[in-house]
Formats: sequence, C-alpha cells, structure tokens
Amino acid sequence: MLVSAKEMLTKARAGHYAVGQFNINNLEWAKAILLTAEEMKSPVILGVSEGAGKYMCGYKTIVGMVEGMIEGLGITVPVALHLDHGSYEGAYKCINAGFSSIMFDGSHYPIDENLAKTRELVEVCNSKGISLEAEVGAIGGEEDGVVGGGEVADPKECKMIADLGVTMLAAGIGNIHGKYPENWAGLRFDVLEKISAEVGEAMPLVLHGGTGIPADMIKKAISLGVSKINVNTECQLAFAAATRTYVEEGKDLVGKGFDPRKLLAPGVEAIKATVREKIELFGSANKA
Ligand code: 13P
Repeated sequence: MLVSAKEMLTKARAGHYAVGQFNINNLEWAKAILLTAEEMKSPVILGVSEGAGKYMCGYKTIVGMVEGMIEGLGITVPVALHLDHGSYEGAYKCINAGFSSIMFDGSHYPIDENLAKTRELVEVCNSKGISLEAEVGAIGGEEDGVVGGGEVADPKECKMIADLGVTMLAAGIGNIHGKYPENWAGLRFDVLEKISAEVGEAMPLVLHGGTGIPADMIKKAISLGVSKINVNTECQLAFAAATRTYVEEGKDLVGKGFDPRKLLAPGVEAIKATVREKIELFGSANKA
C-alpha cells in the first residue's frame, strides 16, 4: 500500500537522517529502487515528474504499476508515490489518480499566488491523507522541462508557506538540478540555517538536486533540518554508463544477449548500486 510521506519525514526530521526521493522513468527504475529500499529496510519516495508521467502513459498507469509491484515484490517498507515539481493542474490529476504525495511547485508565481494555491492544496491533501511539498525560491537548472533561475529562498516567505500546514518544504539554497558546474559555489548553509530557524524544528526541509552534492555537504544539510533529498540524474547517468559498457563489449551479440531482460540488467544493477550508496549516506537504512 502506498503511504503519505508525512510519517517517514517526521521521523527523519526528529532522527537526523533523510529519506531519498528517487525519480522513476519506467518499470525497471521503479523495481530497482523498491528492491533496494526493501533490502536496506529504508522508507522510500518514488518521484514522478510530469514529463515522466506522460512517458509512462499517465498517472493512473503509474499508480497501478507501483501498487502492483509493492504486492508482487513483497515490499514491506513504507513507499510514497510523489509528484515532482507539479503544476497546479498536475497536482489535481495526481490527487485523483491515487498518488500518496504531491509537490506543488508554485515558486515561479508571485508569493501571494504561490501562497493562495498552496493553501488550497493543503486543504485538499489533508482531507485525503496525502502529503504536500511546497517550494520557495527556485532550484537552479532544469528538471524535465521545469527550468529554475536558482533564486535563494527568502526565510520569511518560507515561514509563510510552512505556516499553511504543508508537510515538507523545498527551499532554493544554491542547489541545482543535473550536474553541478565546476565553479559551483556550494550550498548556502547560512540561508538554510535561517530557514530552519524560521520554520521550526518540526518542518522537514527538502533538498533538490541531490546528484553530485559532496557527502560532507549532504551531512551538514541533514544536520540543519534537511529530511528529504531528491536524486534523479545520478541514476540516469549510472544506467546509461552500464548499458553503454554492455553494448560496447558486444554482449548483446552473444547468445540471447539481446533479450531486453539481459540488455537492461546491468543498468538496473547500476541504479541499485546508486540508490544503495545514497540510502547509506542519507542514514535511512534500517529506519523502516
Ligand atoms: P538531480 O537530477 O540533480 O538529482 O535532482 C533531482 C531532483 O531534485 C528532482 O526534483
């Protein structure tokens, strides 16, 4: 059964660790992430961008696939199915399709409009037991068509959104989707500290752009209130590299090496290794 992300993130905030959100693209992705979370006894959040939602034939297909997998694979750890960077319309589509968690990314609206739309969604999500993530200050780079300017969040605006009763809050602190540039200045811990002080100890903070953030920065961010960390690009890069090696070594030409279950297997193993490494680093192993 899918669960809201509220309980797992409240526990993570109090226990000073973070739960990983790993974005999915297809059956192989979802299966690799679920099996790894189960193996490590870690709660997990499966992220779905609107683009990936379309690719996987719509949100209902995804709900059916993930619910079926939880049963078919015997997954016992808490699993939240979460819309990533949802639009206002996308949020409603996922609520109606059976997602257990929603991100409404209203960061590109003026703050008053972001507040009004988030306030409305808090009510709807609360009435259905769905967790809701809001965003203040844009995450830099591009996440599946959602482009952010990388504005650092205003701690006062973070408090206004947090006070609406959202489950978790994503705040721009110099983090970027995709690979970090060589000259990246690093996370703004000074801002994170102020945000944490404004929103209080009970509010789980979300760190987007988890790919490529050095381990020491991840640990410091967790110590300052980050309880959910999003990872997408790193699994894609690992999958692509392992698949390329398989083909370049000519393994698809040997016997039935062209069978998609064989061809995709090294990529799946690479996703598992990446997820395993992140769960270790985030500290959520054995917290299910
Ligand atoms: P990366 O692709 O940089 O890991 O970011 C993922 C993310 O933040 C999804 O919202």
